[in-house]
Amino acid sequence: MNLDLNKIPVHVAMILDGNGRWAKKRLMPRTYGHRKGAFNIVDIAKACNQRGIKFLTLFCFSTENWNRPTTEVQYLMNAPIRYYKKYKNRIFNSDYKVQFIGRRDRLPNALVQVIEEIEENTKEHTGLTLTLCVDYGSYDELTTATKQIATLVKENKLKVEEITPQVIEEHLFTKDYPKLDLLIRTSGEIRISNYLLWQLGYAELYFTETLWPDFDEKELDKALLSYQGRARRFGGLNENH
Ligand code: IPE
Ligand code: MG
Repeated sequence: MNLDLNKIPVHVAMILDGNGRWAKKRLMPRTYGHRKGAFNIVDIAKACNQRGIKFLTLFCFSTENWNRPTTEVQYLMNAPIRYYKKYKNRIFNSDYKVQFIGRRDRLPNALVQVIEEIEENTKEHTGLTLTLCVDYGSYDELTTATKQIATLVKENKLKVEEITPQVIEEHLFTKDYPKLDLLIRTSGEIRISNYLLWQLGYAELYFTETLWPDFDEKELDKALLSYQGRARRFGGLNENH
């Protein structure tokens, strides 16, 4: 069966999982898997762009990943800086709008600087919006939103009765993004891991055993085909149900 190009999801999110196991299977250090996983982001972003997906939102480092061994955390914080130096021109000359969501106050300054440079230099791009979630967690995002809304109420800028789902959405990192259509998680784990909890409200979920470094175009198409086979009713009814 072929992909229906008129039914491509607008916004796809992915939980990139399995880098460590991919490396272990090859008797290599976990960082080897992270390296392969990082290069895979480039290939999958390109494949998504070619298929007409407009927003690709990737879980790269969670608010809980700080609990990993220091050497691994350091690798994950430093590697993007090295890739940036090497591939800067390719990023700037692409048509991707690259954005980052998550906390910035715990990231190394050098990484924050790279993030800001990438965002600044790609902000006018009109192709795929590629969002990398770094030090991101939904509990943190929703707590921050709650504090902001509570402050508005306290300062008499908003009434309690005026708090609607839309108001909450306007205080999320994803406020300018279209609704999430599809979440893909690799490596056989069937859980959400504190990722985009609010945004997942009516997204379709797709889980695959494939480890992230092995998740290629074919695997992407399998996920998209599965998505296209779903009846999305958003709590309502359609002609068959
Ligand atoms: C995902 O791969 C990458 C990050 C969370 C940074 P893992 O590092 O979680 O790989 P496994 O789950 O140990 O195989
Ligand atoms: Mg994992």
